[in-house]
Amino acid sequence: MNLQTIEAEIKKILTGIIHPSLRQNLAEINAFVRLEEEGEKLRLVLRNPSENRKEQIELEAAVRKQLAALDLPAKFKIRFEVDPAMKAAEEETGNRIRGVKNIIAVGSGKGGVGKSTVAANLAISLAQSGHKVGLIDADIYGPSMGRMFGLIGKQELRGDGANTIQPFTAHGVKLISFSFMLSQEQAVVWRGPMLGKAVEQFLFQVSWGELDYLIIDLPPGTGDVQLSLGQIIEVDGAVIVTTPQNVALQDATRAITMFMEIKVPILGIIENMASFECPNCKHVSHIFSHNGGDSMAARYGVPLLASLPIQQQIMESGEEGQPIVLAEPDGTVARAFQALQERLAEQIAKYR
Ligand SMILES: Nc1ncnc2c1ncn2[C@@H]1O[C@H](COP(=O)(O)OP(=O)(O)OP(=O)(O)O)[C@@H](O)[C@H]1O
Ligand SMILES: [Mg+2]
Repeated sequence: MNLQTIEAEIKKILTGIIHPSLRQNLAEINAFVRLEEEGEKLRLVLRNPSENRKEQIELEAAVRKQLAALDLPAKFKIRFEVDPAMKAAEEETGNRIRGVKNIIAVGSGKGGVGKSTVAANLAISLAQSGHKVGLIDADIYGPSMGRMFGLIGKQELRGDGANTIQPFTAHGVKLISFSFMLSQEQAVVWRGPMLGKAVEQFLFQVSWGELDYLIIDLPPGTGDVQLSLGQIIEVDGAVIVTTPQNVALQDATRAITMFMEIKVPILGIIENMASFECPNCKHVSHIFSHNGGDSMAARYGVPLLASLPIQQQIMESGEEGQPIVLAEPDGTVARAFQALQERLAEQIAKYR
């Protein structure tokens, strides 16, 4: 194998390694400087924005791992050249994804309160209004976006030749979910650090293109995914979904405290399953107590962004892969989501 062939192979693997601070792959940032012979070995010289040894070690480990997989008949030395010009690019993008304007996380303290339902309908509603929207289902233990978007079971993920993943497009939304990577029966054994890595890949290795909104549907609670998200990227804000009864509210309080700790602005609260209108007599009852979301919003000084009813159609439409804003585009719930869009935009603007 000659040097040129090896160089070409190396350039290919660089597309699959994300730079820890620049958040782009090593090919995009032109990290390759040269490959040269040095005695028995090959010396690979890469560009890095800083002298930071820890960062260089992390990069070297990532490159070595990929090199090992190539199984080339050569031993490598990896060296770094500091290029301060790259630093300027870093400051420009910061912890953001190029081309993505707003990142909104949907969280809750408690499971089953309707996060995924809210995230799916919000994403579709935004797309219906003409926005470019992406959605990440970051719930590794119970991914549900596949079903909600009518893409059931394991899907064939496609790359674009440069080690990036193509998202699926359904209902006008670009979508990526853990459910595409697992078969229905597969148990999930990923632990903390791996979860962080997986979320990082969803953020930076998926070809999102230009997006007005990227919505992240979080798993319930305040675990590793939430914590690593705060470290990996600058989230523009979180919306907290809760049901109005006390226990759920206490859990939501925990979620609020966590987002505050990781410095993600709380855009507001969405109260779900707040009221029930009897389909026959039209009597409205508040199954899970009254005004819970309101009082919590007041306590934390954040707005109550929406109060959604409990409706059989909301559940059924989600199960059938046609979320309610699609199934009933002129219904009360679809209108509530339109109003929600405006409030969200106002709230994001406040924190800018
Ligand atoms: N307003 C509503 N009316 C009726 N059913 C609803 C409503 N909101 C959610 N549901 C149903 O409740 C169930 C749980 O909702 P969903 O999966 O959205 O919650 P989640 O908070 O994402 O749950 P998890 O914590 O497991 O991720 C689903 O079957 C969903 O269809
Ligand atoms: Mg969910």
